[in-house]
Amino acid sequence: MAKKLTARAGANIALVKYWGKRDAALNLPAAGSLSITLSGLETVTTIERAPGLQVDEFRLDGTPQDAAPVGRILDLIGSQDRVRCRIDSRNNFPTGAGLASSASGYAALVVVADALFERGLERRELSQIARRGSGSAARSLYGGFCRLHAGRSDQGEDCYAEGLYDPDHWPLEVVVAITDRGPKAVSSRDGMNRTMRTSPYYPAWVETVDADLAEAEAAVARRDFDMLAEVAESSALKMHASALAARPGLLYWNPATVACIQAVGRLRGQGTGVFFTMDAGPQVKAVCLPGHAEKVAAHLAEVPGVSRVIRTGLGPAAGLL
Ligand code: DP6
Repeated sequence: MAKKLTARAGANIALVKYWGKRDAALNLPAAGSLSITLSGLETVTTIERAPGLQVDEFRLDGTPQDAAPVGRILDLIGSQDRVRCRIDSRNNFPTGAGLASSASGYAALVVVADALFERGLERRELSQIARRGSGSAARSLYGGFCRLHAGRSDQGEDCYAEGLYDPDHWPLEVVVAITDRGPKAVSSRDGMNRTMRTSPYYPAWVETVDADLAEAEAAVARRDFDMLAEVAESSALKMHASALAARPGLLYWNPATVACIQAVGRLRGQGTGVFFTMDAGPQVKAVCLPGHAEKVAAHLAEVPGVSRVIRTGLGPAAGLL
């Protein structure tokens, strides 16, 4: 029995977004989503059995944190009377800035906990447990292209992530334009809950997701970039439109976010294979056809207010190190 194990998982970006829960306690999403898992932007998590401890200890990037949320996930994999643990998690990208560190974080956590407690759970089950921590985390269990099924059942048995294609199916490139380094003003969870409760556009948003998923999945299967660009940009803008109409309204963007969106539009108009997407934060993720990221990165780096661009591509499934 290992005393200490380490796993890594990549961040992911939804091309068809989920926004809103159908069950808060089980963290079940109100709609499905489709994502790409990234290489290079990752969380590395080590768990060590610590029988001497009374409570778990959790450090994120070296700083002690409330261990209760990760402890609850460990309880679901081990058991309530499992050994206490020391959990050390490190991101190689800014935490809480709209780059979904919780997704890679919970994905790495379930993989390493499954191995440490010798459970040997299926990926699908691990995706369901990761989802309890953060909805988008379910998708980081898989590499390349992934679909999260919302399901309908009360207990969420039919809500799980499914790997669609490995990165080599269509090795898209990604440029992340960092427009703000601070933590986000309103978390995804609070933002989507407020949108669900108060936005008159929320029902319209949910109603359109299934059609967007079908279209995006077909576009990925056929490697039809224009089709994927259209549905992904529409999904992102619709999500933000529903959030803007909440009370009080949620505006996650800053002037540089808008300038990047417009720069991406100009580049595509000139024939560059690129489209944008944004999550619950101000960073712009530009998804590019293979070979187009260099030009896109050079353009976005020049946009006023962009402090840094990160170039990455599609990455592998979460796994032990
Ligand atoms: C806008 O999965 O971060 O990024 O389950 O409350 O942790 P919690 O929410 P989270 O929400 C992600 C929302 C999104 C869109 C997406 O990734 O599908």
